[in-house]
Amino acid sequence: MSEAHQRSSTDAVIDALHSRRSGHNFDPDADVDGETLEALVEDATLAPSSYNLQPWEFVAIRDDDRLDELVDIAYGQEHIREAGTSILVAGHTEPKTADRVFEEWVEAGRFDAETGEELKEQTVASYESERAGRDYAMRNAGLAAQNLLLSAHARGLTATPMTGFDFEAAAEFVDLPEDTVPVVLVAVGPSGGDEPERLPRRGVAEVLHRESF
Ligand SMILES: Cc1cc2nc3c(=O)[nH]c(=O)nc-3n(C[C@H](O)[C@H](O)[C@H](O)COP(=O)(O)O)c2cc1C
Repeated sequence: MSEAHQRSSTDAVIDALHSRRSGHNFDPDADVDGETLEALVEDATLAPSSYNLQPWEFVAIRDDDRLDELVDIAYGQEHIREAGTSILVAGHTEPKTADRVFEEWVEAGRFDAETGEELKEQTVASYESERAGRDYAMRNAGLAAQNLLLSAHARGLTATPMTGFDFEAAAEFVDLPEDTVPVVLVAVGPSGGDEPERLPRRGVAEVLHRESF
């Protein structure tokens, strides 16, 4: 990559971080098309994950009647309907992809077979407690959700992450399997206009701790 290209893509990423917002003003008459939906999810799947397990799933809700039901599940958050697309980002609480993914590490020559097997066993063991399984789901799928938000922003769309919804009802609504939990719901769609100014952020001097808290 040339130095100029490197600089302009760095600038673009930093600009996106600074300008991304959780929007609430969606154009109720315009929706994300199917191709863009797939592109958003592809970008989300480029997120990092522990041992590349990719323990995430994305359930897109776009049907108008289903969106009405989702508004109720999300305690009346009307912007869900106006956005036109909601994506429930969910995470695995069990290492369901471990066999396949550790095979890929070995096939790619990144580990020998014995090391791959050992690492897989360690990883599977680390999911044993219920708490650990949920932690993995939240961390990994949370990073994928952030990619989704940034991708939507880069594509000129508005997106809002949401946890103001009934998790159990949402899991049932989209038929999530037992070992897959809702992490965050992302409403996404074309913008309907300006958003209010961003609220203040806690400053670096307050949140950055050097060496220890
Ligand atoms: C975990 C999480 C849950 C959130 N839940 C909701 C929600 O239920 N409804 C909503 O409108 N916004 C929700 N938001 C958006 C926040 O209100 C928003 O990120 C915050 O006010 C900062 O604004 P910004 O994203 O525009 O910088 C949520 C954000 C996060 C990260």
